[in-house]
Amino acid sequence: MFNKNKKTQEIDKDQLELIQNAQHRIKQKKRLYTHFVIFLIGSILLILANVFFDIGKEVTLFGVNWFVYAIFIWLFLLLYHTFNVFVTHKFIGKEWEQKQLEKLVTLQQKRISELKEETHNSQTENSSEVKKNSKLTIIVAAGENDAIGKDNKLIWHLSDDLKRFKSLTNSHHIIMGRKTFESFPKPLPNRTHVVITRQNNCQVPEGVIIVNSLEKAIDIAKNDTPSFIIGGGEIYKQAMNFADKIELTRVHENFEADTFFPQIDTAIWKEISNTFHGKDENHKYSYSFLTYQKK
Ligand SMILES: NC(=O)c1ccc[n+]([C@@H]2O[C@H](COP(=O)([O-])OP(=O)(O)OC[C@H]3O[C@@H](n4cnc5c(N)ncnc54)[C@H](OP(=O)(O)O)[C@@H]3O)[C@@H](O)[C@H]2O)c1
Repeated sequence: MFNKNKKTQEIDKDQLELIQNAQHRIKQKKRLYTHFVIFLIGSILLILANVFFDIGKEVTLFGVNWFVYAIFIWLFLLLYHTFNVFVTHKFIGKEWEQKQLEKLVTLQQKRISELKEETHNSQTENSSEVKKNSKLTIIVAAGENDAIGKDNKLIWHLSDDLKRFKSLTNSHHIIMGRKTFESFPKPLPNRTHVVITRQNNCQVPEGVIIVNSLEKAIDIAKNDTPSFIIGGGEIYKQAMNFADKIELTRVHENFEADTFFPQIDTAIWKEISNTFHGKDENHKYSYSFLTYQKK
């Protein structure tokens, strides 16, 4: 039922267009006819004015009276008008315009879909880039002067920072230097520890993985996304080249220390988030959680 209605509507629209076109052509031809009649009357009047009323009789060019030139110029304009009506408007008329418009629209649509595809491809590339880059994260807490430790211990106790460390690293590989590992009373639960040492007979509890280079540690954790570099100073320094993200807790105080975090080069790292926390009864110092992404 609905289809039937739709068809009738389309036919009406086509018919309307045909009628409008026909009306337009009729108007054009009428105007041409009027022009022809005016030309005939005008030409007769010009001849009468010159021949019978002697108007401008003395005005000649190459021995020919001016009205002859005037009639020829007018005739030329009339012919041009006729050409427009029967040739130009017939072949380069509305239909031609419509076809050109359709061609343009098709070309534009083609270009738009090409652009959409290009954008989609670059987005896919970017997202795979992000995926590729979010494999190795450095996690650290550092004072304003980049202090991170003293006498193989942390310098402060910030319970929210520890909670954040736990939640981010939970169930992931944590890569650390031998000294940092020794600073723990025991391995942290629910994480795979990868400890880096140059020693051949380093004794560690069962389940802890020992490797003799940072590259090997990264390779062991390569299928974990992300795996974490958790320190200390020596390992952070070497890992800056490999990591793609830094989760930094900036403690807003200068500390006396013997171990420091390397300076974050903002030409390489871009800050993507920053959350400030003030002091309270559980936090002796104010601090900010910052995330940096490699550019
Ligand atoms: N604030 C924080 O977020 C944070 C986090 C972690 C640690 N820390 C602090 O940082 C301090 C410890 O850092 P640290 O710099 O003294 O020591 P570290 O980086 O934890 O460990 C250094 C040890 O790692 C091994 N190592 C380093 N580079 C190696 C390589 N390329 N190949 C093989 N083994 C390598 C060596 O072990 P061997 O000597 O056995 O060969 C080296 O002595 C502590 O004070 C700790 O509390 C702070």
